[in-house]
Amino acid sequence: MPILVTGGAGYIGSHACQRLLKDGHTVVSLDSLHRGHRKPMDMLRFAYPNSFTFVHSDLGDTKTVLDTLNTHELDTVMHFGALAYVGESVEDPLWYYRNNIGSGIGLLDACDAAHGGRGIKRFIFSSSCATYGDPPEGMIPVPEHCPQSPTSPYGFTKLHFEHILKDYATKREMQDNPIALTMLRYFNVAGSDRTGMLGEDHTPETHLIPVAIDAALGKRDSMSIFGTDYPTPDGTNIRDYVHVEDLISAHALAMDSTQIGQVEAFNVGIGKGYSVREILDSVKRVSSVNFAVHDAPKRAGDAIALYNDPTKIKSTLGWEAQITDIDEVVASAFNWFKAHPDGYGD
Ligand code: UFG
Repeated sequence: MPILVTGGAGYIGSHACQRLLKDGHTVVSLDSLHRGHRKPMDMLRFAYPNSFTFVHSDLGDTKTVLDTLNTHELDTVMHFGALAYVGESVEDPLWYYRNNIGSGIGLLDACDAAHGGRGIKRFIFSSSCATYGDPPEGMIPVPEHCPQSPTSPYGFTKLHFEHILKDYATKREMQDNPIALTMLRYFNVAGSDRTGMLGEDHTPETHLIPVAIDAALGKRDSMSIFGTDYPTPDGTNIRDYVHVEDLISAHALAMDSTQIGQVEAFNVGIGKGYSVREILDSVKRVSSVNFAVHDAPKRAGDAIALYNDPTKIKSTLGWEAQITDIDEVVASAFNWFKAHPDGYGD
């Protein structure tokens, strides 16, 4: 099946391209390279010369996206391209809304106009558990029916785009030309592919596991814990860390299982929460380095505790995380960072 992957040069998008190519699909990756990298695109083109194409474009460039969908006869879209830092979204909300929603609508315009106006058939959206914000009492672990009330502009961009997609799916249904729509609400994604080819290279890097690994590798003197008096057992935020390859397996299953006319949302997380301190302990164990850690004020926009109730995705898609040991997740990330001290170097 030919598939358009937006944000295909980014951390998660590049892992998706690799997995889809391995599964025998034809893949077109579209990325502005604003935060994505050309190197993984070059490597995938080398490995899969007949089934992989890279298009350098903003996803809001409707004309280029439309040409791409038509030229390559793409009727499935996996939409990863987005700005994705909670803290940054609080500092520059308009940029987040313009990019994640404005450009997202440009993408949808192209999806709607493709194939002589028949439009694409399948859309898989990278949503986020950040759409839940701080769940009400009794809703942690978080099921899909938990009220969605984000604590950051980033979370709102993902929630608004879910609504936009649902409205679009309704329009298609009314036109008797339905679409299969799957929204995957990721928890915190970590690790790298087991071949060692792809990894995580963000500028700036603000995610907990990579920042801690940088400290362990001596690339920074110390690191900070943002908030130590949260109402959690050790006072620090709790998150659910899912391995990137398990996350992509959920996409593959969603793509195969969601039928035309269906609109589905699934949480993707292992179903276990780890505090910031527990993650730092894991990075120290895996690296054998006791790096310096400072207590720091809370970061605006952070939810207190989020981890998944995996019941729905397990019973509907048969998905279950294969890597559930946190040291294994951290080691997978650590190995890539250690082998690539300058990231992709591009
Ligand atoms: N944290 C620190 N110190 C750091 C970095 C992070 O204490 O140097 C803390 C944060 O305050 C937070 C936790 O570690 O409590 C995790 O923070 P990350 O930045 O790694 O991840 P977020 O939970 O903020 O966000 C990530 C992705 C989002 C995704 C979300 C789902 O960036 O795209 O997970 O929870 F939606």
